[in-house]
Amino acid sequence: MIDKIEQLITELRQHEHAYYVLNSPSISDWEYDKLFEKLKEIENKNPELVKDYSPTQRISDALTKTFETVEHSVPMISLDNSYNENDLLEYERKIKELTKKEEIELTIEPKFDGSSIALLYENDLLTRAATRGDGTYGDNITQNAKAIKSIPLLANFSQWGIKKIELRGEVIIRKKDFEKINMQLQETGQKTAANARNLASGSLRLQDNRIVAHRKLTAVLYHVAYAIDASDNNFILYDNTSHYDWIERLNMLGFFTPIHEIKKCNSVKELSQQIKKWDTERDTFPIEIDGMVIKVNDPQLQQKCGSTSHHPRWAIAYKFKPKQAITQLKDIEYQVGRTGAITPVAKLEPVGLAGVVVASVSLHNQEYIIEKDIRIGDYVYVERAGDVIPYISGCDISKRNGGERVIDFPTYCPACESKLIKNENEAVWRCINSNCPEIIKGKLTHFCSKDAMDISGLGGKIIDKFFELQYIKKYADLYRLPYDQIATQEGFGDKSSAKIKLAIENSKFNPLYKLINALGIRFVGENTAKNLAKEVNDITEYFDKTLDELMLIDDVGYKVAASVFEYFQNESNRNELLFLKSIGVNTESSFGKIALKETIFESKTFLFTGTLNTMTRSEAEKKVEQYGGKIVSGVSAKLNYLIVGVDAGSKLEKAKKIPSIRVLTELEFNKLF
Ligand code: IVH
Repeated sequence: MIDKIEQLITELRQHEHAYYVLNSPSISDWEYDKLFEKLKEIENKNPELVKDYSPTQRISDALTKTFETVEHSVPMISLDNSYNENDLLEYERKIKELTKKEEIELTIEPKFDGSSIALLYENDLLTRAATRGDGTYGDNITQNAKAIKSIPLLANFSQWGIKKIELRGEVIIRKKDFEKINMQLQETGQKTAANARNLASGSLRLQDNRIVAHRKLTAVLYHVAYAIDASDNNFILYDNTSHYDWIERLNMLGFFTPIHEIKKCNSVKELSQQIKKWDTERDTFPIEIDGMVIKVNDPQLQQKCGSTSHHPRWAIAYKFKPKQAITQLKDIEYQVGRTGAITPVAKLEPVGLAGVVVASVSLHNQEYIIEKDIRIGDYVYVERAGDVIPYISGCDISKRNGGERVIDFPTYCPACESKLIKNENEAVWRCINSNCPEIIKGKLTHFCSKDAMDISGLGGKIIDKFFELQYIKKYADLYRLPYDQIATQEGFGDKSSAKIKLAIENSKFNPLYKLINALGIRFVGENTAKNLAKEVNDITEYFDKTLDELMLIDDVGYKVAASVFEYFQNESNRNELLFLKSIGVNTESSFGKIALKETIFESKTFLFTGTLNTMTRSEAEKKVEQYGGKIVSGVSAKLNYLIVGVDAGSKLEKAKKIPSIRVLTELEFNKLF
């Protein structure tokens, strides 16, 4: 049994590594879940065999109410900064003087803009993870670090005789994930972050490690603070492993490192070339970087350089110029989101910044405004890192003339004028009037969005229009739109009205999780929706689930369970769902059916003819191929399915003569998914 457990742990770790470190999944999520469940089942039956490094131990049910303070064995000091070539020349002169060397090998790698972390491994096991804190004391965030799957729970340092080792690195969120998560936070009415660094550091301090697991955090490891062997010798000096070699070793052990970015350089000229290259290319790098870090490669020379109380002398940061502009804040507008959350938005004197004109920037919440003491009329700094959304990083107080106005956060909803509420422990003010027009429009827009019911063509502007025309107020109204009236509206015609109808009809065949996500239940995003969908055969089963039963579902804690419970206990929500079901919206779980769908497509041939309405020809072909089908170029007895769009021509005629070919309409084709 123990062998089986070890084998499953190793196998799961290999898949985690492929997915979270190499960014190249080796199996599907479904297959991973199956293996994970298998391991969990064996562990449940043999609790004494549960290993600390089992992937099942990444998540624990216990909330961390307060983080224990821990002392760093080696202080987490920061790097000194350089800004130009002269600074680098001066730095080079100094280290040559300190080491009494004519030439020194240096390394250069990106300076990752995230939240620093220290990972301690004892006898190969991850035993402690801490934040930087004040450099001497940090927070013990071990349970949250374990939820980051790029961090190995077990790493074979003992192969080199290392007993205890502390690694330093940065917890980051990739640019694309930052935007996605921030959007989800906004949509579910939670506190958004101004940039990826803040989101990463906030995520590390979440009380619930199940939420941490969904924040798409990655730990980049770039430094070994200390390592000792069984006799307490300083392993680094005794083994004489260079910085570059450590990066290679850590990479080999399965850590995420700057292995592909790090370069060795022997002169400031070479460093400058690298810096120039990175400064121009950093926008296209998937991770936010704010500079480069230059390090002395040889550990003996590093020791000769030593450190001041603030900075190591063996390394220096080179800071890129921030993409920053200064402009005047003209006014504040307040947006009401679908959860009623009020978001202050700064209206700016339009200003160019890294290729875009910025005129409007989110200020997130009242705390953000107070913390930065932003006032109307202030000159504010707008920053934009990479291709990410701009944010206000602060204001220039010296430019104040006394005419600035302190921002009075509204106490009544700007859309419906009902009194705003602020819950304890929450940063956002909310409108709680369920009839507030902005909340209704926001909910309808979310219902139609891509990750929800994916009704293309029904974006925010059209939803607003249909709402003003009183066509829609509830989700159910979307399925009984007056198409003949729509066709007569300005900007619409028979064709666009028919297109909307088709998209709405197609949405009836969505998998259940999309419907659950679409309902806009507080704290239920796409991931939770998937877990909820897996749990039942039909959504109506949730009408009878108790709070305790809900809390047994994967990743569902008290807060989520209470919100789901409240949603399904509400009579009008139930009636709306029953109506949707009655008109043919799929309310049944599609979990497990994927495999069945794959077999419909597996080794079958497909051909499209005519114009498709809901997707382009190449999108449709890609979809077929994703499910294992094959696209062929002509009609013959070898063809299994011909999908006909509008104005199909001779191919259809030819196919009709071959009885084995199944002719499908676009709608029928979409139903296959
Ligand atoms: S080496 C003894 N390498 O930038 C300091 N730091 O003040 C060892 N950082 O505190 C740090 N990328 O949080 C190092 N490639 C990199 C880095 C890096 C980001 C952070 C780190 C450090 C801060 C500089």
